[in-house]
Amino acid sequence: MSAKVRIPLDVQQLRRGWESLERESSYWVPQADIIGQIPRGLRGTFLRNGPGVNAVYGKRLKHPIDGDGMVCALTFIDGRVHFRSKFVSSSHRREERDAGKVLYDGQMGTRATGPVTQFGKVLVSLLSGKKPKIKFRNPSNTSVFYWGGKVLTTYETNLPHCLDPYTLETMGLDDLGGTLKLHAMAAHYRVDMKKKRLICLSLRVRLNGAAEVGFYEFDEHWHCCNAVHHSIAGLNYIHDFVLLPQFYLVHMTPFVKVSTSLVLKWAAGISSPGEEMRYHSDLPSKFVLIPRPGHSNPNSTVIMINTEPFHIFHYGTAYQDRHDNIHFTAVCLDTNFNMTFDDEIALSNVSVSPGRLFKFHIDVKQLTCSQEMADLASVEFPTVHPFRHGLSTSRYNYLMASDRQGYNLPYRDVIKFDHLSSSRQVYYSHGSIGEPVFAPRHGYSSYEGGDDDDGYVLVQLYNPELHRTEFIVLDARHIDADPCARICLKLKHHIPYGFHGSFTPDVFVSAPPTSKL
Ligand SMILES: [Fe+2]
Repeated sequence: MSAKVRIPLDVQQLRRGWESLERESSYWVPQADIIGQIPRGLRGTFLRNGPGVNAVYGKRLKHPIDGDGMVCALTFIDGRVHFRSKFVSSSHRREERDAGKVLYDGQMGTRATGPVTQFGKVLVSLLSGKKPKIKFRNPSNTSVFYWGGKVLTTYETNLPHCLDPYTLETMGLDDLGGTLKLHAMAAHYRVDMKKKRLICLSLRVRLNGAAEVGFYEFDEHWHCCNAVHHSIAGLNYIHDFVLLPQFYLVHMTPFVKVSTSLVLKWAAGISSPGEEMRYHSDLPSKFVLIPRPGHSNPNSTVIMINTEPFHIFHYGTAYQDRHDNIHFTAVCLDTNFNMTFDDEIALSNVSVSPGRLFKFHIDVKQLTCSQEMADLASVEFPTVHPFRHGLSTSRYNYLMASDRQGYNLPYRDVIKFDHLSSSRQVYYSHGSIGEPVFAPRHGYSSYEGGDDDDGYVLVQLYNPELHRTEFIVLDARHIDADPCARICLKLKHHIPYGFHGSFTPDVFVSAPPTSKL
């Protein structure tokens, strides 16, 4: 069994987990560097994205979310593991490389120029009757996934980048055949494996308060089967959504405000969108149900249902019952939440406002919502079976957690939470962990039949004492048992903490070498 160590990790050492790693790699992991055994049922590619740098040409980034994306791919094939890492080669990154300095502001407060220069530029623009320009960078660092021959990396306010799945070479920005007319794609997507579709969304918020949201359903050849657009005032931010048979569900958060004066502050370098993310008591908190095309759904209009004032980045399991009522889990942040880089470790002020897993129940006919806290641990980054989201056959949430009394940070543990029974299993790690990703044992066909924990949980783990990263393979049925395998990296290096990952049953490397390494 994994041991619950109560001794806190050293903060200084933990911070080093964000250090830059400019080196790109490609190699087979020697069997000698794998503790335990890679299960034969684990076949496919684990992709993860995150900032590969915490400084650019000598300038320390204010927040990790401003760092250029570095994608890692771990390929599991016949008990062997291939590792590859590569930066997303965005035009912004290339321009800064040529200039040898930071050229673009970050959404989280990293600034290319000093406040006096920036304020002066805004003043000149205004005096000449022009709108001040804001050049936020697109680090494309938030998530990565494979669909229909492409690997896509995302950053929610911009277009995704397309990568070659075999080499991770960046092919360029991708508007998906012109479908992404709002020139953005949210970090999170969902898969409807029954229909063999990828569902993603775009959001574009206008200064007059109008927000345009678009949902798109693509088949395996990137043909857009469904596209819906709505203009919804107050929908100022969306990070993730729930996919249901009849609806797309999002949350109208009271934590993001948009106004002309705020945009001027951003342009002048006085603040940034990330730094302004905080609770506004005058903004509504609502769940928004957007009808999904192709269903005999009597509710053809957008439905809004009031709920408690919290912020939601991420959703877990979800389904509609036989009365069409909606049940789902989500990680909620209370009214104290903001995006302060907490102790230079966590992406938000987790020590003050930890995420908590809640269960929600929406009565679609009565337009009511109720919720209950499902677990007491400090959690974030819930993940589920990738091909069963929105189905009643999906019951398990896997959460990045701190399940140590008195410590909201760092995230060291993986909680497997059953939303039907509210029971839990916990893996207590020896380091600091990232988002757990579920890898189904039967690949694409696992969307129906059998249990939805028939597979493996893959986790990136940072060992702060050694300043090294390893990857953990857990048996999803028994995540509280010792790992099936610990993959230590050949080059004995760390990989900066990541954001989101995904698993595809496809592999993009040829068979492993027969000679023993
Ligand atoms: Fe996210």
